[in-house]
Amino acid sequence: MELLYSGKAKDIYKTEKENEVVVHFRNSLTAFNGKKKAELDEKGEVTCEITKIFFDYLEKHGVLTHYIKALEECQFLALKVKIVLLEVVVRNIATGSIVKRYGLKKGMKFKEPLLEYFIKDDSLNDPPICTSHIRALGFETEENLNKIGELTLKVNDLLKPLLEKCKIDLVDFKLEFGFIDGKLLLADEISPDTCRFWDQDTGKSLDKDLFREEEGGVVEAYKEVLKRLRTAVQE
Ligand code: TMP
Ligand code: ASP
Repeated sequence: MELLYSGKAKDIYKTEKENEVVVHFRNSLTAFNGKKKAELDEKGEVTCEITKIFFDYLEKHGVLTHYIKALEECQFLALKVKIVLLEVVVRNIATGSIVKRYGLKKGMKFKEPLLEYFIKDDSLNDPPICTSHIRALGFETEENLNKIGELTLKVNDLLKPLLEKCKIDLVDFKLEFGFIDGKLLLADEISPDTCRFWDQDTGKSLDKDLFREEEGGVVEAYKEVLKRLRTAVQE
């Protein structure tokens, strides 16, 4: 297969169809804008499986995604989208960069979900950007931005109860979007690489913070999320 694009954790390959691509999840794990790196056995297949479950679930609840169907382990077939150059973050509980930015107490629950935008540009270290700058700098129109914001909050509303069944708090997460013929689709991945999940019983992280903070047990925690999700979607 011809490689179209190689990111920090995934590769995108061409297919015979102009409008479809293969998304391949690698075992690579990076943090702090690629400064910290590792290769972890089975990470790719676990994050791929988790993404497939989330995308399937969201599709069933009316969210359009780029996911088409499962292929072999670590891969799925997806629609080729024109990617939006923004990373969209929702926060339900304070941790990570917002705690440092505003001097908040880690673990504080927000009165309502916070929506934040970051420029998808590693060379700039993915800086935060506000909606007026997004419009003024021509990243997206007001209409598209409203659609992106609404869809992101809908994803939060759908994922929270699913994760509740898994006894997991959805602390925060990052989404990426794309367009096909003017239609907005959820793209990229949703996995412990791009979300923060806290176990409700122990308060322990079940996500990439284990890697960021050198705690270990990364793939084991990801597998635990997968196991609980598989049970939850069958109920
Ligand atoms: P932050 O607290 O570091 O800003 O992260 C917010 C959420 O976004 C968290 O769930 C991790 C996720 N995220 C990514 O998926 N990719 C990134 O490059 C960053 C910085 C965060
Ligand atoms: N996604 C970024 C990286 O891979 C930052 C992070 O998730 O901490 O370096």
